[in-house]
Amino acid sequence: MVSYKELGLVNTREMFAKAVKGGYAIPAFNFNTMEQMQAIVQAAVETKSPVIMQVSKGARNYANATILRYMAQGAVEYAKELGCANPQIVLHLDHGDTFELCKDCIDMGFSSVMIDGSSLPYEENIALAKKVVDYAHQYDVTVEAELGVLAGVEDEVSSAVSHYTKPEEVIDFSQRTGCDSLAISIGTSHGAYKFTPAQCTRDPKTGKLVPPPLAFDILHEIEKKLPGFPIVLHGSSSVPQDEVDTINQYGGKLPDAVGIPEEQLREASKSAVCKINIDSDSRLAMTAAIRKYLAENPSHFDPRQYLKPARENMKKMYIHKIVNVLGSNDKL
Ligand code: G3H
Ligand code: 13P
Ligand code: ZN
Repeated sequence: MVSYKELGLVNTREMFAKAVKGGYAIPAFNFNTMEQMQAIVQAAVETKSPVIMQVSKGARNYANATILRYMAQGAVEYAKELGCANPQIVLHLDHGDTFELCKDCIDMGFSSVMIDGSSLPYEENIALAKKVVDYAHQYDVTVEAELGVLAGVEDEVSSAVSHYTKPEEVIDFSQRTGCDSLAISIGTSHGAYKFTPAQCTRDPKTGKLVPPPLAFDILHEIEKKLPGFPIVLHGSSSVPQDEVDTINQYGGKLPDAVGIPEEQLREASKSAVCKINIDSDSRLAMTAAIRKYLAENPSHFDPRQYLKPARENMKKMYIHKIVNVLGSNDKL
């Protein structure tokens, strides 16, 4: 058993309380590779932002759970080396789907876990979340639970339609589970194809797809029911069109990829939404830079040559999110 406290990590409790009060949101960036980790830490240090580094089940399978945990420990030391005396870094399990997986992460030094029982019947979701909370709180690890189902693919749970969170359930759910934060469904979804063209309108000037607005009425109802309670938004990548265009220009094929407009995330960040999950935008930034670099430098084959611009492009994207969308800069 390793406590995250020994690794210099923090849980989300104080971070979220400050974010809700201050009207900003903490970035939760997924990472699978060293370059993503480095770019996240550099961006957080340069902007003086707290940050959540999150690991999915897929990331554990790809990179190995132990390696990712040591990378997070390395992230704390790297942040200090870059001049941040008191880094506020959370190591979070994203979309944990069993008690055993959450326990494994808690036992190896994660400071926060998500138990995603959103596809289960209501009572089963509560029972599973409560079991995780009871275990996690013994070690001062914070727990995110989810109510409502996002459209798109949630790891292995596939849902073609979204089921918005029912505001009438949130008080009962949060009280009976004891969760520290609640992920809700108000129209965001995972991946680079958040909406079908049929769900969007077209901007007459640019011809680009304009997605339907998020259900802010539901968010505000939930805020009224749970004043000051930390709310989480998954599936919040904006799928920047310049990155999509670069990918398509250099041999990729991402027609009609569309994300959540940044103005809406900016608005959500000012509410009780205090954690915003972004993964796809990092994938797009990395892939766009690599495709461009290799197309322009066909004789290069040293991975450091094309991973360097990829890392720079991700860092630029992370800084943009922190400063221009979530507002978590200058909080350390
Ligand atoms: O919500 C899902 C995250 O983007 C993680 O995706 O399971 O492909 O690592 P992944
Ligand atoms: P995106 O696919 O929109 O980046 O969402 C990531 C996410 O919610 C991770 O849990
Ligand atoms: Zn998610």
